Amino acid sequence: MRKEDNELLVRVGPGTAMGQVFRSYWSPIADAKQLADKDSDPLRVRFCGEDYVAFRDSNGTLGLLDELCPHRGASLALGRVEDCGIRCLYHGWKYAADGQLLDTPNHPDPHFKKGFKAPSYPIREAGGLIWGYFGPKEKEPAFPDYAFMHHPVDGMYIFRVDLDCNYLQLLEGGMDSSHVGILHADFARPGWQHGAFTRSDDPNNPGGIAVDDNAPSLSIETTQFGFHYAAIRKGEQGGQSIRIVPFIMPCARIIPAPERMATLFEVPVDDEHTSTFLVAYGPHSKNRARNLYMSGLDDPRFWSETDRHWKATWANRFGQDRAKMRSRESWSGFRGFEPEDGAMALSMGPIFDRSKEHLVPADGAVVHLRRILLDAARRVAGGDDPLPLPDVSKVAAVADTEIPQGERWQDLAPHNIADPQRQIAAE
Ligand code: FES
Ligand SMILES: [Fe+2]
Repeated sequence: MRKEDNELLVRVGPGTAMGQVFRSYWSPIADAKQLADKDSDPLRVRFCGEDYVAFRDSNGTLGLLDELCPHRGASLALGRVEDCGIRCLYHGWKYAADGQLLDTPNHPDPHFKKGFKAPSYPIREAGGLIWGYFGPKEKEPAFPDYAFMHHPVDGMYIFRVDLDCNYLQLLEGGMDSSHVGILHADFARPGWQHGAFTRSDDPNNPGGIAVDDNAPSLSIETTQFGFHYAAIRKGEQGGQSIRIVPFIMPCARIIPAPERMATLFEVPVDDEHTSTFLVAYGPHSKNRARNLYMSGLDDPRFWSETDRHWKATWANRFGQDRAKMRSRESWSGFRGFEPEDGAMALSMGPIFDRSKEHLVPADGAVVHLRRILLDAARRVAGGDDPLPLPDVSKVAAVADTEIPQGERWQDLAPHNIADPQRQIAAE
């Protein structure tokens, strides 16, 4: 990859092309549990290198404002949330959820506050997440409708993890079927220790692969929402084993398991920080302890619901247990998906230079992801808008399913509508 293209993809701050792409879509900005109650503590939000404050007022209305008070710049995130507004601690200026200035104790002129509004941004709650939109008001897109938004929030498994690296490292890991059977061998290929593959019998396990094949061939198709691809492995009944993963602009994917669908978002906080949001539904999603165990989020040394920051770093060798690797109890020395995926992404450094890679056909979906994102970045750099999201409520991922040779894998996900009009280079 050319260095300039890497730069184009990884920079998300104000004025950058990818930053503008991300600012063109609604984006998850918090786990709804972080702003559950009226007049609860305000939340600092950083999105694509800019700082905001989110709060829920006395009526339950959500507000999203610039973090710094328009008077003289103290952080509103330290303020008081009370009486239907957020009040800056410094001189007491108070703002409503829509930014309207309500009170100025150090300037009693009633006309002043009437005509004054702090910059505010659209904010909503849906599917257990809080969403924000940071682009131009006149270009606000329709609010997205994801399948998970049609499931009761209290039956879903939802988490947020904040990691100290660029979003693309995490997003690429999510569009990379060939690592699943290797990095996640403990969950994906139990029995690897004895050279005897046994299929995971956990229908909740997104790493459980149906057949023992670490070099799937990939079939990729551009769609209106982004793209989807099938990882194709040799089936056991003479057919082909298919696993379909869709990528939804600008940073979402759906990861399948037989009885669980997980939608993940890799939201850029800034160039070197990312918030991962996961929302999963299925018959086992209510069992939070079981899900946290599989995610590897049950070790308080590395993650907790109090701050959500991922704390496995080189300082603690990412928590890797080399003794368990030697005893062949664990392939990676980590336990769970997040410790494994997180360690790989973080070990690349805050921003990886992709001009140094050596790609193989198994990286095809990662390459296509970059092409789709580069296409969007070039589009906005040329003065156009990125493509709007179509209805994504029926976009589907498919867990490993065997189909006869010669049948179209696309028929397993008939609502992932292909977009033959779009020319993505070298497809
Ligand atoms: S800085 Fe906020 S009221 Fe003065
Ligand atoms: Fe992974």
